[in-house]
Amino acid sequence: MVKINENYDKLSSIYLFAEISKRTKAFAMGHPGVRIMRLGIGNTTEPLTESVVKSLHHGVDKLADVKTYTGYGDEQGDQRLRHAISEFYSKRNIAIAEDEVFVSDGAKPDAANIQSIFHHKSIIAVQDPAYPVYVDSNVISGRTGKANGIIYDGIIYMQCTAENGFFPETPNTKADIIYLCSPNNPTGAVATKEQLSRFVDYARANRSVIIFDAAYHSFISDPALPRSIYEIEGAKECSIEINSFSKSSGFTGVRLGWSVVPKELVVEGTERGKINALWNRRQTTMFNGASNIAQEGGIAAISQEGIEENRKVIEYYMKNASLIRECLIKKGLTVYGGTNAPYIWAKTPGAMSSWQFFDKMLNEAHVVITPGSGFGPSGEGYVRISAFGHRGDIEAAIESINANLHI
Ligand SMILES: Cc1ncc(COP(=O)(O)O)c(C=O)c1O
Repeated sequence: MVKINENYDKLSSIYLFAEISKRTKAFAMGHPGVRIMRLGIGNTTEPLTESVVKSLHHGVDKLADVKTYTGYGDEQGDQRLRHAISEFYSKRNIAIAEDEVFVSDGAKPDAANIQSIFHHKSIIAVQDPAYPVYVDSNVISGRTGKANGIIYDGIIYMQCTAENGFFPETPNTKADIIYLCSPNNPTGAVATKEQLSRFVDYARANRSVIIFDAAYHSFISDPALPRSIYEIEGAKECSIEINSFSKSSGFTGVRLGWSVVPKELVVEGTERGKINALWNRRQTTMFNGASNIAQEGGIAAISQEGIEENRKVIEYYMKNASLIRECLIKKGLTVYGGTNAPYIWAKTPGAMSSWQFFDKMLNEAHVVITPGSGFGPSGEGYVRISAFGHRGDIEAAIESINANLHI
């Protein structure tokens, strides 16, 4: 008789956003007519920019004409887009060859799938708190033991606390695969060059691999902060960078991302180019390429014009972030993030747990936020507030917090 992959049963039974939705629905049922403001999920809300829309239309028009119609494309991505991504790096003095770029349908699938090319006994290290897919994909593939609450046996949790500026120290034992995300979801913290250098040095010394999630790179306005791990000397020897058009260009529903797998990256027992070839093998075997329409849009989004247009959208979200920060600080909360990242990370008042403060915010101010404990044990006692919203909703939430939240 067929059996299931029992690793799925190890996954925490509470899916964070399902629980938020359940509690929000229950509140709405009990309070008909009350306006609920949602500052929880990190979903984009502003429309696509003009040049991107034009390019997406162009993609559709090409498919409508027998002379320009295309079916499957290269699994690795449209050569024009890979070229544009390579140029995107070279403008920042980072040399990435086109065949080191793999276009995908988003950073989340790549973050989930990348582990499959590494040994099943690899030891995983994650930032705590972290975007859940890094842990969950390794749980499903059997690299962890059972969960003790939300802590899995066999995973190295690198604590991110107020004391270390929410960016961890390198592990003091050997980790094989290290997931880093900067700007960070959920804490909004951004690693400095010095902090990333320490991880690159660690990875080179231990022959570890860093999986660097740069999905929020475009929210960094401070020129001193790195937007790519490859700004760090030696990083190409030890790092894979995962990136996305979702947050930089509003492609959350369009679906487009990329990963860089450098040829220099080597691990135990492999020669130069092997890891790049393995990922190519994985993608050609299990992925049939990103949508050709989405890629046409991506070419516009990553052009100078597209980046300029999208900068305005990012400034809009960052204005939201500064309004939220100001409001929470005035309320007396201790607040982090929200300056080079679209997330604000706030300490709960008193000794309240993340879920207690979630309930209080919902009941008193009718504002939905995200409990930090859903992202890992060190998220307990914090909440995440997202700046991805329409200004009117953000302003209404702020007004309601000012008037109704009693701290
Ligand atoms: C850190 C991080 N990486 C990746 C993603 C997902 O990216 P994509 O939409 O490209 O799959 C998100 C989405 O919220 C995220 O927070």
